[in-house]
Amino acid sequence: MLNKNLTLGEFIIKNQASFKYSSGELSSLINSIRLAAKIVNHEVNKAGLVDIIGETGGENIQFERQQKLDVYANEKFIKTLINRNIVCGIASEEEDSFISINSIDKNNQNKYVVLIDPLDGSSNIDVNVSVGTIFSIYRRKSKIGSEVELDDFLQYGKDQVAAGYIIYGTSTMLVYSTGNGVNGFTLNPAIGTFYHSHSDLTIPENGNIYSINEGNYLQFPQFVKKYIKYCQEEKNDRPYTSRYIGSLVSDFHRNMIKGGIFLYPETFKNKKGKLRLLYECNPIAFICEQAGGSATNGYKNILDIKPTSLHERIPFYCGSKKMIKDLQNFL
Ligand code: AHG
Ligand code: MN
Ligand code: MN
Repeated sequence: MLNKNLTLGEFIIKNQASFKYSSGELSSLINSIRLAAKIVNHEVNKAGLVDIIGETGGENIQFERQQKLDVYANEKFIKTLINRNIVCGIASEEEDSFISINSIDKNNQNKYVVLIDPLDGSSNIDVNVSVGTIFSIYRRKSKIGSEVELDDFLQYGKDQVAAGYIIYGTSTMLVYSTGNGVNGFTLNPAIGTFYHSHSDLTIPENGNIYSINEGNYLQFPQFVKKYIKYCQEEKNDRPYTSRYIGSLVSDFHRNMIKGGIFLYPETFKNKKGKLRLLYECNPIAFICEQAGGSATNGYKNILDIKPTSLHERIPFYCGSKKMIKDLQNFL
């Protein structure tokens, strides 16, 4: 049963034993993400205020600072993870290459690598719309104590030991899974504590929301065009509704709660799709499957795709199982 007085910190300790590789290391890692999330949350919440209070710097400096929130979030997550000495490698959407902690600290003996999209949907910040952070955690494949290698990051999505996201929305939530279902925690900003608000999150088997940037319609592959028409057909006795925020985290979160499908196909402009396999698709697909949904590039389950490069992009379809199946029928 859900105990809403349980904090995220208490939940992590309570569930530590059920991790596949039981060790305090993964717990500390999630704890560090929790800490960085609170720091970034504080800054994201101030985004609209900096122009008004503007206590330091001129207007221009404030404006630039706001534009650079994704750089800020990137630095905060990376610094927190390095300072707490709990990972051996970090890859971020905002960095060209991965960071090997052993090049900073020769004695580092950690087992986990983290991949992160520090601020997802950052173009929404200026207009006060929800943004997020997405993270993905793997055990390293190379020898403990040595420098991490590219292959430590290019692992199958199904080999993630944990994944999750933070949504800076009407309330701030942290949602994650270590492969035993999905749990959600809501931040009480007054005391800076995340409480267990959503136990064992599941995505409805079927839904009626489709989320896609329809402005790109003419560029979509045939099967996606057909699927959209199917969603809009009058003869469909349960007409679908279209909802698109433009922040993957928020669009996915809504669909997980209400039942729906998220689509980001390849377009003329983004021939391989827009979303990044390692920082966006894999962690969201992991959560989606853990919640009972599916995620595919159309032909293959996302979690069964072998990544070939750090910043690889891929067409992405995920959500309620039945809706993904219906989409694939148009292929
Ligand atoms: P990011 O802000 O990390 O670059 O990600 C933006 C992504 C994703 O959050 C969203 O689903 C998608 O871009 C929206 O793209 P369009 O504006 O092309 O619809
Ligand atoms: Mn993103
Ligand atoms: Mn981003």
